[in-house]
Amino acid sequence: VLNKEEITKKLETIIVPGVNKNLVEMNYVQDISVADSTVSVKLSSACLDESVQEYLKSRISQLVKDGGEAKTAEVTFEEIKPNVLNKIGNVIAIMSGKGGVGKSLVSGLLAVALRRHGFNVGILDADITGPSIPRMFGVSDNPSCSTSGILPVSSKTGIEIMSLNLLLPSEDEAVIWRGPVIGKVITQFWEEVLWGNLDFLVVDLPPGTADAPLTVLQQLPVNGIVIVSSPQDLASMIVRKAVKMAQKMNKPIVGVVENMSYLHVPEINKDLEIFGSSKADEMAASAGAPLLAKIPIDPSLAALCDKGEIEDYDGAVIEDLWKNFGEAG
Ligand SMILES: Nc1ncnc2c1ncn2[C@@H]1O[C@H](COP(=O)(O)OP(=O)(O)O)[C@@H](O)[C@H]1O
Ligand SMILES: [Mg+2]
Repeated sequence: VLNKEEITKKLETIIVPGVNKNLVEMNYVQDISVADSTVSVKLSSACLDESVQEYLKSRISQLVKDGGEAKTAEVTFEEIKPNVLNKIGNVIAIMSGKGGVGKSLVSGLLAVALRRHGFNVGILDADITGPSIPRMFGVSDNPSCSTSGILPVSSKTGIEIMSLNLLLPSEDEAVIWRGPVIGKVITQFWEEVLWGNLDFLVVDLPPGTADAPLTVLQQLPVNGIVIVSSPQDLASMIVRKAVKMAQKMNKPIVGVVENMSYLHVPEINKDLEIFGSSKADEMAASAGAPLLAKIPIDPSLAALCDKGEIEDYDGAVIEDLWKNFGEAG
C-alpha cells in the first residue's frame, strides 16, 4: 500500500536538478499525507524556480500513479529558507597565516578524506578574492538559483561546492570588492545556499588573521579550526597569532597541518627539507592541537589540482588527515 514510508522511498528516487542528491536527502520534504484518493506532498520551494517545481510535480504524480492504487498526487510548495532546511553537523574552518601556503589544498584534501570515508561533505569557498576550490575539483557549472536560494554544485564524488567563481560570468573575473561586500557574500553562502544534510562543511577562509577571516569566524558557527603552515613561515609567530584569534573567538583549534614539509626523491630514497627543517611539532605544541599531517611537495598533486582531479589523489596524506582528524574530533 501507498503509505508515508512508501512515498518517502519514491521521493528518494527523485534527484534534485543540479545536485546529485534526492529530495529527501536535501530536506525538501515537509509533509506527506495520504487520504482516500489523494497523496499530498508538501515541499519547500527553496532554490527551485517554477520550471523545476513543475517538473517535480509531474515526477511525483507519475510515481504515485505507478504505485498502482489509482491515486492522484497533490504537490504544494512552501517557501522555507535554505538555512532553516540545512542540517550541518560540523563547520571546520581552514586558516593560514598568509596566502600561498596551501590552505585551499588542505581544504580540498580534508574534504576528499572525509568523503572517502562516507561522510556528506561540503566546501564553502570563503576566499572571495582568490577562489580556487572549483578549479581543484573540476566543477564549473553555474549553480541553480531562484529568488529563494542557491544550490551548490556537486563534484564528481558528491562533495557539494559553493564558490563565488561559480557565480561569476567568467572564471578569470577579478573580484575587487571591499570588505563589507565580501562579508555579505560569505553570509549568503551560509544562509542562502541549500547545503542539505552535511556531516562536515569545510570552509576555505580568506588568508591571514586580519578582518576577513575574523568576519567569517563571527558569522558562521565554526566549531573547529585547522591551521595550515609551511616550514618557510615564521611558524611560531603565525601560529601564535592564529591561536590568539581562535581564543578570542572562542573556537577550538582541532589540528595543524604542515604543508610543503619535504620533497621525497625516490632515486636516492631521501626526504629533502627544501624549505628548512620541519616546524610541525613546534607548531602543534604552540597550538595545543595535534599535528594532522605533514604534506610533502608533490608535483603530481599540483598537477591533479590544476586538472580538477584532486579527488583522484591517493597519497598517504589523505589517510593521515582522516585518521588524525577523526582522533582529534
Ligand atoms: N604540497 C604541495 N605540493 C605541490 N604543490 C602544492 C602543494 N601545496 C600547494 N601547492 C600548490 O601551490 C599553490 C598554492 O596552494 P593553495 O592551496 O592554493 O594555497 P592558498 O590557498 O594557501 O593560497 C597551488 O597551485 C597548489 O597546487
Ligand atoms: Mg586559496
